Amino acid sequence: MTLEPRDALHAELLDLARDLARAAGAIQRDRYETGLTIDTKSASIDLVTEVDRACEERIVGGIRAVRPNDAILAEEGHGGDDSSARIRWIIDPLDGTTNFAHGFPRFCVSIGIEIGSERCVGVVYDPLLDECFEATRGEGAWLGPRRLRVTSEADLGRSLVATGFAYDVHESADDNLDLFRNIVKSARGIRRDGSAALDLCYVAAGRLDAYWEFKLHPWDVAAGFLIVEEAGGRLSSLENGPIDPSGREVVATNGAVHDALLARLVEPVL
Ligand code: IPD
Ligand code: CA
Ligand code: CA
Repeated sequence: MTLEPRDALHAELLDLARDLARAAGAIQRDRYETGLTIDTKSASIDLVTEVDRACEERIVGGIRAVRPNDAILAEEGHGGDDSSARIRWIIDPLDGTTNFAHGFPRFCVSIGIEIGSERCVGVVYDPLLDECFEATRGEGAWLGPRRLRVTSEADLGRSLVATGFAYDVHESADDNLDLFRNIVKSARGIRRDGSAALDLCYVAAGRLDAYWEFKLHPWDVAAGFLIVEEAGGRLSSLENGPIDPSGREVVATNGAVHDALLARLVEPVL
């Protein structure tokens, strides 16, 4: 079979993204539970380790070596935003840094690729479970040979839901706590596992029925959004508007429970 040019490009980008996600994941696996240099960024609870930086160097170096003209947006500062480039890589070299720094086994590498600002490729790699979630636009979302599909659960009371809290939670009144309370009181269960990229993949894989979070960044969601979409999930803002690729306001569900979740998020529960 001969691939169409667009499909061939997607396949080539996916192969490179997967290889680089696995290479960075190997660094994380090697350095897990070893002594680390840890610094802080925007707040005392916003950590960055030498492993975040090493993973980013590995990924960005790997892209630059074979695709020097692509734009790169990476969390730890690599790449300038080259608006003339058609292809843009959006990279979270280590999503779940707080977990990684504490030896809590839930973190990953996230790499999303846009072509002409359309999400086209997403790879999220969990190195401890050796799970590689991936999607290309129009080709479905996959975990190895398994095609991913969201659940069909429509009842919030039977749903497992995840969320997270931004690094300004100590100072900001806009802290997600009221919404958290509403869903604790309504869903079957709630999780705060500390990796937005994996939370999105777990919605896609049917391990979660829904997930919401605020004040995320493009690198947290670039891969996960496509993986949810390709698994048949639904993405929106809190007001049920279009999803913002900046990650400022994220509601990701199986679709069936979306409206119930949106309604309950903003409705005070006694
Ligand atoms: C964080 C994680 C966490 C989410 C934070 C993110 P980082 O990313 O995804 O789950 O709640 O808002 O910033 O800092 O570990 O890459
Ligand atoms: Ca992140
Ligand atoms: Ca990160």
